[in-house]
Amino acid sequence: QDNDTWSGRFSEPVAELVKRYTASVDFDRKLALFDIRGSLAHAQMLAARAIISDADLADIRRGLTTIEAEILSGEFIWSLDLEDVHLNIEKRLTTLVGDAGKRLHTGRSRNDQVATDVRLYLRSAIDDLLILIRALQSAFLDLAENHTDTIMPGFTHLQVAQPISFAHHLMAYYEMLKRDAERLQDARRRVNRLPLGAAALAGTSYPIDREMVAGLLDFDGVCENSLDAVSDRDFAIEFTACAALIMTHLSRCSEELILWMSPMVGFIDIADRFCTGSSIMPQKKNPDVPELVRGKTGRVNGHLVALLTLMKGQPLAYNKDNQEDKEPLFDTVDTLSQTLRIYADMITGIKVKPEAMRRAALQGYATATDLADYLVKKGLPFRDAHEAVALAVRFAEQRGVDLSDISLAELKSFSVLIEDDIYQVLSLEGSLASRNHIGGTAPNQVKAAIARARLFLAQQ
Ligand code: ARG
Repeated sequence: QDNDTWSGRFSEPVAELVKRYTASVDFDRKLALFDIRGSLAHAQMLAARAIISDADLADIRRGLTTIEAEILSGEFIWSLDLEDVHLNIEKRLTTLVGDAGKRLHTGRSRNDQVATDVRLYLRSAIDDLLILIRALQSAFLDLAENHTDTIMPGFTHLQVAQPISFAHHLMAYYEMLKRDAERLQDARRRVNRLPLGAAALAGTSYPIDREMVAGLLDFDGVCENSLDAVSDRDFAIEFTACAALIMTHLSRCSEELILWMSPMVGFIDIADRFCTGSSIMPQKKNPDVPELVRGKTGRVNGHLVALLTLMKGQPLAYNKDNQEDKEPLFDTVDTLSQTLRIYADMITGIKVKPEAMRRAALQGYATATDLADYLVKKGLPFRDAHEAVALAVRFAEQRGVDLSDISLAELKSFSVLIEDDIYQVLSLEGSLASRNHIGGTAPNQVKAAIARARLFLAQQ
C-alpha cells in the first residue's frame, strides 16, 4: 500500500531506509482506539458546524466502526508505507467509505491529532494506575494490620537505631504511595486538555467548535495556545517524573525486602512464587522480583531523562522529534503497571519472622535513647544524659550484654537518678509505647493510622 498522502509534491519516492526510519506505526498503533475516538468527535463537530455533511458523518462513523472492529480482531493490516497509526486508519477509512474519508482531516493536522491521542492514552493509563496504587496501598495495610506489635529494629545508616513496629515501617510506604497517587491526580489535570483545533500550529480557518470536541472527549477544557498545544510534551514528562518517583519508592522497598530476606538478616520470607532458584547452587532462593523492580527503576528514570532531552532543543512548534515521545512513555506505563500489579501480590505473600526481628532489635542498644530521655525527664540536661548513657553502652558492650541486663546498682553508677522503673523503659515494648503521638510507633498510634488509611482508601 503506497503512501500517496503527500507524494504530489515530491519528484522521487521516499527511500526505503528512510521510510523505515521515519515510520512509527510499529509502536504508535497502540494509540489506534484513541485515534478513532478523537476522529469521531472531530467529525461530529465538523458536521455540527456544517463543514461536512451529515451523510459524510454517517459514512465516517460507519467506516471507523468497521476499522475499530478490524483492529480489535487483529484483521487490520498495518502498513509501514503509511508511516503512522493516523495515516493507516485514514487510508483504510477512505478505502471503506470514499470521499467522506478524505474529508475527515478537514481543519485538522496530524500534529494536533497525535497530541490529542497521546493525551487520551495517558489519561486512561493514569486512571488504571491509580486503581493499582490503591490496591498496593491496601496490601500494605493488610500486612501492617497484623504487625502493630511485631517489634523490629529501626535503622539509620543501616545501624540499629530505635525499636519500631514492623507495621510502622510498612505504613511509611503507604504514605509514599499516597503522595504518589496525589501527584498523578494532579498531573492528570494538565493532561486532560484538548489540543485538537490547533491544527498544524496556527489554528484553522474553518468555523470549528473546540469546546464541543473537548466535551465529547471528556477533556476539562482546551489548550489555549495553538503552538503550545501541538509542540509541548510537558504533560508526558511530568507523568514520567511521577512514575519515576513511584518506581523509586518501590525500589527502596525492594532493597529492604532483599536485605530482610538474606539469611544473614532473616526478617521475612518472600513467597516462592516470586523467587527463582539457581542453576548451580541447590540451596538458593533468590528474590528476583524485588531485584527486577530495583533494576527497572533505572529504566523508568532513563525514560524521564530521554523525554526531557527530547524536548530541550526544540524550537516551536511541532517537530518530528516528538514522535520519539511514545516508546519511553508507553514503556513507562507498561513497566509501572506491571510492577504495581506484581508488588501488591508479593507484599500480601510476605511471611514475617517476628523472633528474628526481635532478636535484632535487642542487639544494638536500641533503647539507649529511651534511657537518655528517662534521665532528662528526671531533670538532667539532655547533653549530660547523652554522655551518661554513652558510658553505660560502652560498659554493656564490654560485657557483651544489653542495657536491661545491667543491675540497678551498676546502672546507678552512671547516674544516681536511675531507679527500678528503668527496666520498663529499657524494654522494647516500653520504648514503642512511649512514642505515643501522631506519627509515632506506639501500637495504638499505628493502629489509628491504619484505621485512618482504611477510611481514606474507602473514600477514593
Ligand atoms: N507520527 C507523528 C508523531 O508521532 C505524527 C505527527 C506527524 N506530523 C508531521 N507533520 N509529520 O508525532
